[in-house]
Amino acid sequence: MKTSKQTKEAASSRNSFSGRIGYVLAVAGSAVGLGNIWRFPYLAAKYGGGMFLLIYLLLMVTFGYVLIVSETALGRMTRKSPVGAFHAFGKSLPFHFGGWTNAIVPMLISPYYCVIGGWVFKYLVEYLKGSVNQLASDDYFTGFIASSGTVQLWFVLFALLVFFVILAGVKQGVERVSKIMMPILVLLAIFVAGYSITRPGALEGVKYFLIPNLKDFSWMTVVAAMGQMFYSLSIAMGVLYTYGSYIGKDVDIEKSTTQVEIFDTGIALLGGMMIIPAVFAFSGGDLSTLQAGPSLTFITLPKIFASMGAGTLVGIAFFLMFFFAALTSAISLVETSVSSIEDEFHWSRPKCCLLMCAVMAVVGTLSSLGYGVLDFVQIFGMAFLDFFDFLTNSIMMPLAALSTCILIIRVVGFKKIAEEIEISSRFRRKKLYIFFLKYLAPVCIGIILISSIANVLGFISL
Ligand code: PHE
Repeated sequence: MKTSKQTKEAASSRNSFSGRIGYVLAVAGSAVGLGNIWRFPYLAAKYGGGMFLLIYLLLMVTFGYVLIVSETALGRMTRKSPVGAFHAFGKSLPFHFGGWTNAIVPMLISPYYCVIGGWVFKYLVEYLKGSVNQLASDDYFTGFIASSGTVQLWFVLFALLVFFVILAGVKQGVERVSKIMMPILVLLAIFVAGYSITRPGALEGVKYFLIPNLKDFSWMTVVAAMGQMFYSLSIAMGVLYTYGSYIGKDVDIEKSTTQVEIFDTGIALLGGMMIIPAVFAFSGGDLSTLQAGPSLTFITLPKIFASMGAGTLVGIAFFLMFFFAALTSAISLVETSVSSIEDEFHWSRPKCCLLMCAVMAVVGTLSSLGYGVLDFVQIFGMAFLDFFDFLTNSIMMPLAALSTCILIIRVVGFKKIAEEIEISSRFRRKKLYIFFLKYLAPVCIGIILISSIANVLGFISL
């Protein structure tokens, strides 16, 4: 049994954020990444533009809010990352399941995240070499993605960089640089979005992105929007438990949640504004690019840059910032995975990194080659990268989120969560919180989960 003095010491040695601002910046650094500039625009383009946006926003202020607050509060209450946090309340099978579904998600996302990070890296280097016009040509991306050796090379380089930063202990340095880069990324994104929406024909795209149209609604819109909300806000993957375990009891959890949500969504909106109107402007009437999926950002941004006066310069600057945003998020994903392994198995750090390297090599290689030499392998009609993305976002994250909801409803109780939040501030949206968590969240997550599984197995068509 720990004495209260020991507990206090343990708590304070785990406090590594300097107050709320430090915490908000750290979470925002993890939240803002490929999700905002790569994933959000392609999903919004594909799944109904304004309708997708509306559903995304609704989900974010309800589920997203409830889940961020819950995970952070549980992390701060138990001072543990997800597996430990679930174990703090029980050791039977459901607790293992809940903790581990949260912990395994980042292990599965990290590899394909680094594959996309590799694409960004490759494009940055191409802009540095001055290939602004080649990159904008119609089949550059398709050619690149099919050349397996090249894709694999950039994936490995990006992944090595991530491990290097983690093992060499220069993470702080990278995060400091990225804090300078992030405001520049925002300014650049505003500039590019401004340029993009003023192109002839782009207005149609702005309308498509911002105005919801009922005819664009499908269940897939809801499934995709929910997965994206988890992904972009780093929910249901153990990250917020871990971050919550590092914050002091003085941090206002509700207020920081709101700030992180505003920041992350703002950048996703900018991502959409840069890319979707440009698809309309540069398509020459053929809107099939809207369905392009993961390649959309890489096809569209180069076209925008090539049409600008100083395209090379803007391309270099943009991809440099984009690269840093991806790097900090990848570091946070790999770091979370490594620390879950460390916490549970009590192995040395290099050994944990080695295990993560192995997972990375297998899952990452499959993802990177899935559009090239391995394109004959399709899992439920998806290439490897799309499959891992679907598996984590549409199946495992809903399961992880559901586990958190059940843990609170059945075991921890609202009272304890409320007490945890009220240590630092009034619990302003307490009634809303209880209502969503108790009634809406489990039912909706359940429906989404079942319908996405049924969809992929071909029982229903969403
Ligand atoms: N939220 C990040 C993004 O949008 C992805 C991420 C998830 C990063 C979890 C770190 C931890 O790109």
